[in-house]
Amino acid sequence: MPVKIAPSILSADFGRLADEVKAIGSADYVHVDVMDGHFVPNLTIGPIVIEAVKRATKLPLDVHLMIENAEQWVAAYAKAGADIIGVHVESCPHLHRTLAQIKDLGKKPCVVLNPHTPVSAIEVVLPDVAQVLIMSVNPGFGGQSFIPSALDKIRTLRKMIDARGLTVDIEVDGGIKVDNIAEVAAAGADVFVSGSGVFGTKDYAQTIAALRDAGTAARGA
Ligand code: DX5
Ligand code: ZN
Repeated sequence: MPVKIAPSILSADFGRLADEVKAIGSADYVHVDVMDGHFVPNLTIGPIVIEAVKRATKLPLDVHLMIENAEQWVAAYAKAGADIIGVHVESCPHLHRTLAQIKDLGKKPCVVLNPHTPVSAIEVVLPDVAQVLIMSVNPGFGGQSFIPSALDKIRTLRKMIDARGLTVDIEVDGGIKVDNIAEVAAAGADVFVSGSGVFGTKDYAQTIAALRDAGTAARGA
């Protein structure tokens, strides 16, 4: 099975957003980073921009909510066109209910872990999600370096998912590039977010293919 590549539009040229989204048409998902200036020290976009992104692509939108009070917002993001909705375990006191809300809206629930949060924090909700996102940078900004302790978390989670016979994708977000994706894939990840690693290159399609090839080769090994 080929790994999935999800370019993060955080590093795209927002003045030409529709064209930038079209230019990553060979990817598997479009990763959309929503930041509220409270949960993370940066502010990005909301449902109106997501509606515009949805109009520009047929790819599924993988929406990463880095916001407080996520439970009050999931319906708005579902309506705006999100296909996968990721909420942070650190910002959801009623995580089980929030994930159920996403499922009830007909969308794929994803739970997200900050770099310091152990995998055990989401063990109980594992059967309730389609995807777990392991942050390999502290959320808030593109262009940061991959935090190596994410690798052990990916290995632990891979074992947990396989031992329980679940079909949950492991996604990794932060500092993923062509030159390190193999190591992360070998740890057991399925979906790779890459912002500056794609939008910082000249030929997005070529970079997406290189990421997918390197990740798939290492995953199969
Ligand atoms: C960080 C975001 C990431 C970001 C990744 O808070 O969640 O999706 O865009 O950017 P790179 O790939 O440049 O580390
Ligand atoms: Zn993200």
